[in-house]
Amino acid sequence: MNSNGNQNIYQPKLIRVIDKIQETPDVFTFKWRFVDEKENEAFDFKVGQFGEFTVFGEGESTFDICNSPTQKEYNEFCCRVVGKVTKALSKVEPGETLGFRGPYGGSFPVDKYKGSNMLFISGGIALPPVRCVIDYCLAKRSDYAGLTILYGARTVDDLVYKYMLKDWGSRPDVKLVTTVDPGGETPDWKGEVGFVPAILEKMNPSRENTYVVLIGPPIMIKISMQVLGKLGFDPGRIYTSLENKMKCGVGKCGRCNVGNVYVCKDGPVFTYSEILALPQEDI
Ligand SMILES: Cc1cc2nc3c(=O)[nH]c(=O)nc-3n(C[C@H](O)[C@H](O)[C@H](O)COP(=O)(O)OP(=O)(O)OC[C@H]3O[C@@H](n4cnc5c(N)ncnc54)[C@H](O)[C@@H]3O)c2cc1C
Ligand code: FES
Repeated sequence: MNSNGNQNIYQPKLIRVIDKIQETPDVFTFKWRFVDEKENEAFDFKVGQFGEFTVFGEGESTFDICNSPTQKEYNEFCCRVVGKVTKALSKVEPGETLGFRGPYGGSFPVDKYKGSNMLFISGGIALPPVRCVIDYCLAKRSDYAGLTILYGARTVDDLVYKYMLKDWGSRPDVKLVTTVDPGGETPDWKGEVGFVPAILEKMNPSRENTYVVLIGPPIMIKISMQVLGKLGFDPGRIYTSLENKMKCGVGKCGRCNVGNVYVCKDGPVFTYSEILALPQEDI
């Protein structure tokens, strides 16, 4: 509370890291719970929302809550080390505390997807924000028709969630295709070799009654969109999540704008037809 008795929206809540998994040489998953048990009971979020996570003494960074809200025991975020805060995070160990503000932003319309086929396309570190939708659909499996996942990384080493890929790949009700860029394969690699858009074209998925969740590096998204266009997919049925730099996360600082749109509160989830209507130079 501030001196006026109002809740300070920038005040983080304390969370404790309960597990840390090294996914790749520079990507870590953190499992966490609130220090205050009452916060754990009260906490709820929607598929695709994000949080602002504080490393005390270093700063705050934005990460997607990458588990499904149906997972109640703990929450997760996955972070690639790119700079100051993420480097400090990589040194945080289980038992240590971080700050959390959120959940913020809009979500994937998982109710609207009910009864449809879902095609998930993702590259590199972008699997965690797609995974929250995949896990939600798996938790409510009978609500959704076919589930197809296409995931690629530069090398076998760079694939995140190898344990989840194994699980998804062993399910009869999921079609999983993994790929690595040419030259990134190992002698025992059993997946595809090729860039995600090329493998997508080869898969030739049906657009019939299908929604797409597409998140990855800009070049992967751009070329995958061209392939989906050729296959007749409607941009209004293709969803992605933008990662514009953020500060407040709540529509106050103007850091994340694309034209008149605040990515933090109007997004980060958008359909591709919404994105095509935005000033492209700001994305
Ligand atoms: C809605 C949203 C969700 C995100 N989810 C995840 C996630 O789940 N996992 C994850 O690893 N990262 C995610 N990010 C990106 C993450 O917030 C940044 O990588 C992180 O804040 C960088 O902090 P830093 O202090 O380590 O880097 P800095 O020292 O601030 O910057 C290092 C380098 O990274 C670049 N950079 C910083 N922030 C971003 C950004 N938002 N987008 C692109 N480049 C950036 C800088 O320009 C610079 O080149 C998300 C960002 C947003 C906005
Ligand atoms: S991050 Fe401050 S307005 Fe969006």
